[in-house]
Parts: sequence; structure tokens; C-alpha cells
Amino acid sequence: MTDDIIAIDGPAGSGKSTVASALADRLGWNVLDTGAMYRAVTSEALFLGIDPDDADAVARVAHDADIRTRPRVSINGRDVHDEIRTDVVNVAVSVVAANPAVRAAMVQRQRAVAAEEPGGLVVEGRDITTVVFPRARVKIYLTASPYERARRRGDEGHESVARRDHADSSRETSPLRQADDAVALDTTGLSVDQVVEEIVRCLENTTSN
Ligand code: DC
Repeated sequence: MTDDIIAIDGPAGSGKSTVASALADRLGWNVLDTGAMYRAVTSEALFLGIDPDDADAVARVAHDADIRTRPRVSINGRDVHDEIRTDVVNVAVSVVAANPAVRAAMVQRQRAVAAEEPGGLVVEGRDITTVVFPRARVKIYLTASPYERARRRGDEGHESVARRDHADSSRETSPLRQADDAVALDTTGLSVDQVVEEIVRCLENTTSN
């Protein structure tokens, strides 16, 4: 089990994925994109003709699936790396991510990944600082202005991003929220390097304590 975990949460378009992978590169750590896991389960359910609202059937998919996020995202041996970013998945993923049994299965897998990680791990999502790794060495809550977030999400469009943010923050199980002890970082107008350096400083502060 690695004790070196940097947990990053934040809404869509806050810069999580880009920052998490640049940070992992900078530190020589691995990265876990947990949104890709929820997206992969959604892709697989749709592929199998399962209605995303059929909570039990989707939970079975989540429980049984072999999910890989590196180097490409796949589920049960099927490459879904590009498919998980399509509109149908953008729309259905909120329902899948609000399913408590799906969340339980994903959280268990995310902890298992960390348990097998020999080095440090950067993990990004919506409930990483609050639920999955509340005792992570560094906990970051990334934000950006609504305009900036919509711009970064590009093709997805402002309305889809806003709808997903609302669903992610208002659901009953593990809604997106800032942990009391997470460092809030507004990335509006900052370069990826600047954000990475800020998080590295947070990490160095924990070392020197
Ligand atoms: O980060 P992303 O946009 O790829 O995430 C896709 C969806 O998955 C997002 O709308 C919310 C959900 N999600 C979640 O509920 N918990 C996580 N840890 C990661 C993502």
C-alpha cells in the first residue's frame, strides 16, 4: 500500500486530468483517472444494451468488469478509450455514477490499485479527497471559472457540463464537495506548470513536517 497519494477532486473542466497526468510525470508517479472508470462502466452497459437506469443490471456490470485505465482505457478487453468521451456516455455517466452499488465497486477497485502501487499515485475524481482516500498525503480541490471550464471542455458544450456538474454535486451518494482540509486551487488563468508547481509545494510541505 502506498502512503504517497495525492488526491484531486473538482468539477468538469477544472483541469484535473491534465494537471494529474502532468503532476504524475513531474514526480515519476502513476496516475489513476477514476472518471474513466465510471465512463468505462457506462460504455459497457450501453454496449450490452442495458438501460443506465436499471440499477441492478449496471451494478452487476460494474462488479464483474475487468477495467484498465492505462495505457488506454478498456473494459472486459474492449478498448473504449475514445468511446468514453462521446455524447451518449457524457449523458448516461451521471446516472451510472449516482448508483451506490456502482460507486461501492469502483471505490473498492481504486483502493486495490493503491494497495498494489509500489510508488506514488496521483488519483483524480469527485470523491477522492472525501471518500476514497480521505487520509491522502495531499488533498486538492481544483476549480476554475464557469467560462474557463466550458472552454476547456470544448466539444461537450456548456449545457452538458453544467448538467453533469449539477448531477455530480446534488446526488445522494458521495456528491462532489470540497473536503474541509483540502487545499482549494483556482486554476483560471494559470498554466498547467504553475498548478503542478503549487501542488508540488504542498507535497514538499508535508515532507518537511
Ligand atoms: O472526470 P470525468 O468528467 O471523466 O468524470 C465522468 C463522470 O464520472 C462525472 O460526471 C462524475 C463521475 N465521477 C464520479 O462520480 N466520481 C469520481 N471519482 C469520478 C468521476
